[in-house]
Amino acid sequence: MSDNAPTGGAVVASTLVTPVGRRPPRGRALGEPQVLGESGLVWNERGEIVYVGPADGLPFEDPEVFQGCTIVPGFVDGHTHLPFFGWRADEFETRLAGATYRDLHGEGGIYRSARLLADANDQEVLAFCRPLVREMANHGTTSLELKTGYGLSVEGELRQARLARALAEEAPQTCTVTLLACHAVPKGMEPREWVRAACDELIPVAAAEGLADAVDVYVEDIAFTVEDLRAVAEAAEAAGLPLRCHADQLGPSGAAEVAVALGARSADHLNNASPEGIRALGGGETVALLLPASTLLVGGTPPAARAMIAAGAPIALASDFNPGTSPVLSMPEVVALGCSLYRLSPHEALVAATLGPAWVLGLAERSGSLETGKHADFLVLDGDAFRQVPYRPGHNPVVHTYIAGRRVGGR
Ligand code: NIG
Ligand code: FE
Repeated sequence: MSDNAPTGGAVVASTLVTPVGRRPPRGRALGEPQVLGESGLVWNERGEIVYVGPADGLPFEDPEVFQGCTIVPGFVDGHTHLPFFGWRADEFETRLAGATYRDLHGEGGIYRSARLLADANDQEVLAFCRPLVREMANHGTTSLELKTGYGLSVEGELRQARLARALAEEAPQTCTVTLLACHAVPKGMEPREWVRAACDELIPVAAAEGLADAVDVYVEDIAFTVEDLRAVAEAAEAAGLPLRCHADQLGPSGAAEVAVALGARSADHLNNASPEGIRALGGGETVALLLPASTLLVGGTPPAARAMIAAGAPIALASDFNPGTSPVLSMPEVVALGCSLYRLSPHEALVAATLGPAWVLGLAERSGSLETGKHADFLVLDGDAFRQVPYRPGHNPVVHTYIAGRRVGGR
């Protein structure tokens, strides 16, 4: 098979593991994906899966065979802060020496990334992001979220959303764009003033121009309140866009339960979610989207992931890729951290890194699992079982990454 397979194709491996369905699995289903020995998949010339099942009986004459390997759906990274420009490694070092993320919020942190983005031209930003998106493909990410939030003005946010759409256009992956309308209060503005501008100008304009697929809010004592979240939810609903929320990351704010009550697609981070928040997630539709790489890098308390799973909450894992709290773009690494830091089982982590986030991004009809009719977005991993992935952090297990049946990366 060539790198640009123009026709259909087929692969076979020692093991094939995939969740099933179009909804984010919860409870036992989270840890029980389908596991098939000596199996493969076949796709047509449009890159759609036409067969998943035993190698014996595969309706294809000459499949590519990967002995000792595992086929899984491509990773869906449901929470990243791309496009951004520039790194903040010195802030990481300052935190290692004792400063907190809150201490740096002001001249550094989000405000610094906003200045870096504003000072770069569009071509510079895209040239910075392009290789990162490639690196994600090489680590098995076949769909991802892009976010704004470093614009910090109506024009700045719209520009970042346009940059996100431009990056999506070039990327081999399917990308969605989330308008992080409230991330930090712009300098010289009162919080309420910015929330009004976000609700009355930014969100309607972004929606009218087709620049956003969802709207997000950072609820935190250094950022926005649950009342702001309610206001943004109203504006997002009026614009026909689903809601997302950075909830209970650095401290408890009650954002998780409010996000569920507002019907948000996801509540993200959740390190300090209250028992009430966990109960709400268990009974609602909102996905608990967990970001263990940022927990590791800011030295946060791990969220009560096992309690969330026991309560029946649908779970997703993502990178939170950003220059501040998580310069980590590798989903295999995120899976490893999800297991070791949050005590997910390898199969729970796989489902949480594929079908769960595919639903959050509105892509579950075509991504997140290997099933007839969905896109042939899949990975060939070394090792004959998925358990090898969390067991070997730091190792890239992705031999090949395929999107719609076309090889786009690997190591
Ligand atoms: O999800 N905490 C809020 N937002 C990001 C970090 C952004 C940054 O520091 O640049 C997060 O962790
Ligand atoms: Fe984030």
